[in-house]
Amino acid sequence: MDERIAPLFSPFALRSLRLANRIVMAPMTRGFSPNGTPGADVAAYYARRADTGLIITEGVGVDHPAALGGSGVDGDNAPHMYGKAALEGWRAVVDAVHAAGGVILPQLWHQGVMREMGTGPHPEVESVRPSGIWGPLDRTAMVSPHYMETVAGEPGRPMSDSEVADVIASFARSARWAMEIGFDGIAIHGAHGYMIDNFLWEGTNRRTDRWGGDHRARTAFAAELVRAVRREIGPEPVVNFRFSQWKQQDVRARLAETPQQLAEVLGPIADAGVDIFDGSQRYFDRPEYDGSPLNLAGWAKKLTGKAAQTVGGVGLNSGVYDSKKTGGSDAAVENVHKVAERLARGEFDLVGVGRAIMHDPEWTRRIREGDELLPFDEGSRLVLT
Ligand SMILES: Cc1cc2nc3c(=O)[nH]c(=O)nc-3n(C[C@H](O)[C@H](O)[C@H](O)COP(=O)(O)O)c2cc1C
Repeated sequence: MDERIAPLFSPFALRSLRLANRIVMAPMTRGFSPNGTPGADVAAYYARRADTGLIITEGVGVDHPAALGGSGVDGDNAPHMYGKAALEGWRAVVDAVHAAGGVILPQLWHQGVMREMGTGPHPEVESVRPSGIWGPLDRTAMVSPHYMETVAGEPGRPMSDSEVADVIASFARSARWAMEIGFDGIAIHGAHGYMIDNFLWEGTNRRTDRWGGDHRARTAFAAELVRAVRREIGPEPVVNFRFSQWKQQDVRARLAETPQQLAEVLGPIADAGVDIFDGSQRYFDRPEYDGSPLNLAGWAKKLTGKAAQTVGGVGLNSGVYDSKKTGGSDAAVENVHKVAERLARGEFDLVGVGRAIMHDPEWTRRIREGDELLPFDEGSRLVLT
């Protein structure tokens, strides 16, 4: 093995998690689970990638009627974590991954303001939004004009206290069921402009009660939710929490303008029971704040003392939204050496890889054996191979 990439293949242990290497398949919505139920094709898709140290599944809707809704490849047929059929489907996925020697966490997801009303498993229910608003309507480049007109701009009302409690309880229930069917821990989607992030970000949280206020006050929902999940699953399994500066509402948005603000955001969430912070960036090699090379995951680790996971453009030349524009990107081996170097320095502990592993189930083996990487093909978003 090329010694420059050797750090990626060192083992990792935390609570009950035991990983053979530091590569993590990043969560990627695929939309191949009709009625919210993953089938044998989904099990085979994940099992083929079991030599990746850790698999984090696509976003999986929690047991709340407004958790999911969407159309097209990024929304339709998303899986959920409730009900006999879906849970049995997930049990088969977990068994297949374990049989192939892998480790797998489900990414629990509530779409919050991003949910497309009139769609999903419960088209009749209203979406729930912390302050009734979708966010600023003039800064997104991510969603269609149709969506902006029919969904985003529709005025809503702030969530009531009991609606807030219901969403929190839905994460706890789904986490418990996930552990009961054999998952190796829990990942929570707190990023990208979905429900948890809606509370964290001032663009979507204007509340003046206990769920809103300054940076620290806006973490109350996330912290309460993590505490509820931890209570359900006990002390042994890991809790991985994804957060991001960017949102689909505004790719340039920042939750925290300074390390001090980031400490205020992550501190209470860390104390609530998170073990690994997954700092979602589009490019892992971008420093987060002036005056330091640390990226978002690096800062999360430094500020909280928890483990951290990076992501963004590993093995590829362009970031997730830039490659959509260019129609694809070439494989880039050089930056795999670079991410390994930063891992070895202790900046972060785990390395998330999204599109490259979605496209190529052999990616981890290729890296280990020094095989040439395949050029990325955007068409791989449309198939489950
Ligand atoms: C098709 C697709 C679906 C995605 N779905 C999710 C998701 O469900 N949850 C999530 O947190 N991130 C999601 N992401 C973001 C990825 O987890 C990852 O952060 C991003 O692709 C950057 O990593 P990459 O440059 O290695 O692809 C998705 C990305 C892609 C390409």
